[in-house]
Order: sequence, then structure tokens, then C-alpha cells
Amino acid sequence: MRESDEKVLCSIKNLAIFGAPPFFKDKLHVGQPNIGDRARLIERLNDILDRRWLTNSGHYEGEFEQRIRDYLEVKHCIATCNGTLALQLAERALNLSGEVLVPSFTFIATAHSLSFQEIKPVFCDVLPGTFLIDPEDVRRKITPRTTAIMGVHVFGRPCAVEELQEIANQQGLKLLYDAAHALGCTHKGKKIGSFGNAEVFSFHATKFINSFEGGAVTTNDDELANRLRLLRNFGFAGMDHVIGVGTNAKMSEICAAMGITNLEAMNTIMAHNYANYQRYKFQLQNIPGLELVTYEEEEKRNYQYIVVRVDPDRFGLTRDELFQLLQAENALARRYFYPGCHRMAPYGAIGGENDGRLPHTEKISSEILALPTGSGVSLDKIDLLCCLMKFIHAQAEKIRRLLEVN
Ligand SMILES: Cc1ncc(COP(=O)(O)O)c(C=O)c1O
Repeated sequence: MRESDEKVLCSIKNLAIFGAPPFFKDKLHVGQPNIGDRARLIERLNDILDRRWLTNSGHYEGEFEQRIRDYLEVKHCIATCNGTLALQLAERALNLSGEVLVPSFTFIATAHSLSFQEIKPVFCDVLPGTFLIDPEDVRRKITPRTTAIMGVHVFGRPCAVEELQEIANQQGLKLLYDAAHALGCTHKGKKIGSFGNAEVFSFHATKFINSFEGGAVTTNDDELANRLRLLRNFGFAGMDHVIGVGTNAKMSEICAAMGITNLEAMNTIMAHNYANYQRYKFQLQNIPGLELVTYEEEEKRNYQYIVVRVDPDRFGLTRDELFQLLQAENALARRYFYPGCHRMAPYGAIGGENDGRLPHTEKISSEILALPTGSGVSLDKIDLLCCLMKFIHAQAEKIRRLLEVN
């Protein structure tokens, strides 16, 4: 640690929340975009311009789909302009209607993709150890109107795929996965991407692999893939030949080129994420009350999210207090996923049907904090951030008192 940093950490008056300058001059983000090999990207962009083919089943969209198929060992990949539209296409291609069982502990797009098509998301609780949809709660919430289960592989950890498949088979339900966090992750050695009827990825700028904006549906089902391709492109089955309703969810060439460039850098990005994870794991041992959410070493993970649970009794401050303190210091931690979809509009009326029914979701979403990581965050910065959090813990009582006064 530099002498100037040490000086800051000798008095709580030097904390930014009390008016001092932030500890970090440059902001530390949770998901600063990965860029891959810039020169290769520019080459591809020039090629796109030379070809004068910017979208509509272009060369790079085809290559991107092929690379995803090969990597995931899945028969079909339908690339889209973002993950939310990929979810909507998959739901529509699977003929979902009525009610769909989803976790509330996810990004709001999972629930909204259903509501947007007049399908009711019915929120299930998560398992407290994994934060993933609880198959028992899924069983309890099935009604005659239920048409599907949609699991979310939150933070790249796979849902209980065997149990969910068994429920889906028994009840005649479709099974869809929101795999927005899970590119590069495995379940029992098999890559996420071919579980259930279909899986949906996001290649948003903040994701492990980004295509600026982008998404994809992957499936081994030929007919479903056909329907998805029609839905993605206005229902066109050939030149001037529309055979049904569709939308415009195509991936543009520039996005596909970015996606390919980042796929080529995947191992480097993963190695960086893993090194950051290991560093946090080491440093957090010394901070009581900050429990790292760990990943199973025997499976492949992308380590895109570094998540801690804040135990206010042991840490001395609540998750929200720590969050506020870190924001002020330019360490832009995020409360993924707070407060849970069931607490957000239009689902979250207090005293409404979702109130108090998801106790694990409520607890986890009040405790978790995603810490800055990714290729924009170095090991040195992690050391400094952990020193800062250690100092905050050591001074927790005094900080709380001052927070109350201010
Ligand atoms: C779990 C989850 N589902 C869906 C999405 C939506 O993806 P997109 O932003 O590509 O539309 C995201 C992220 O943005 C997400 O984190």
C-alpha cells in the first residue's frame, strides 16, 4: 500500500462519505466491458464496411453462431440483438402462456420478458445455499395455468437441472433457462447451453463475453430453432414470403464481430477473472462478516461475479451501509439482485400476493453485494479495496455513530 493510502486509512474522517476525496481516483466497476484484441476488431469492422453488408444473416452473424454452437456443443444457435428479445423469442417459440414459474432473485428482464407478452411470472423462492430456483417451491406453485418453468443460472452456477427436468416431464411443462450469466460454465462437466428445451444467453456490454449488445437462444430442437429464426426476422420464410408474426431481433454484423473478437479472448478474460476471484478469496479471509460466495473448483466457471454476503452482526455494518460507503469511495459495488423482482413494479405491491412468500429471496437480496472485478480491475486494486473494507470493519462502530449524526 502506498504511504498516501495508509494515511487515508488512519482516521474515519478521511472516508469520502464524510466529505473527504474518494479513496479511488478512477471508478472501479463490477462489469467494465471486455474488449478483446482491438486490432482484430478494427480489421473486422473494416471488412464489414468493405462488404457493405451490415445486418440480415451476414457473414459475421453466421460465424458467431457457428462458434457458439461449436463451443457449447449444441445443434442450434440463434443470435439476437439482445438477451431480453432472445428470452421473448424463446417464450413465444415454445408457445408459453398463462403462468410461468421463475425465480424472483434475478435481473428484472427475466420477469419482464414474460409480462411483456401477457404471461404471468409466478415467483418462486431460491435455495439459500446456491441462490437458485428451489424445485420444491416450483412443485408447490404449479397450477392448471402453468405452462413452463424458467430457471436462471444466477452468477453462472447451474440450476438443479435434473430435478427441474423431472418436474417438467411429470407435469408436461416446458423448461427454459435464462443463462445470461453462464457462458463458459458447466454442470457435471457439460456446458450450459443445451439443458431444457432451450437456453438463453446475453452478450450485453457488461457480460463475460459481450457483443456490445447481443443475445442468443441455443437448443437441440430443430423445429424450435426454425420457429426462432422466423420470429427473429419478421416471420420471413423466404424472399417476400411471410408465414406468420415475427419481430426484428437480428444481431447486426458489428455486434457479431465484437462477439467473435471477445470469444477469441475468452481464455484470457476467464484467467483474469479467476485470478481476481482467488485474490478476493485470500484477502476476504481477514475480514469478519464478509463471506465470499464460492464457486465449485471441479466445474468450469467464468468467475464474472465476485459476490459477498454481508453479515451485519459480524461485520458491524449492514450491507446497505457498506454499499453506501463504497459508492462514495468510487468502488462501485452493486446489490445484485436487490430487492428481487417480486418487490419491483408491477409485481411488488406491499401486502400483494408476493408479499412475504419468498423468505430466502428477501434475506439474500438484503445481504449480497457484487464487488468490482473484470479486466478493468487489477490485483493491486483488489488489495486496496480489501484494506479499505477491513478498515471499515475495524471502525464500524464509530462509523455507524457518525452516519447517524450526518
Ligand atoms: C439474468 C439476466 N437475464 C436477462 C438479462 C437481459 O439481457 P440483455 O441485457 O442482453 O437484454 C440480463 C442482463 O442484462 C441478466 O442478467
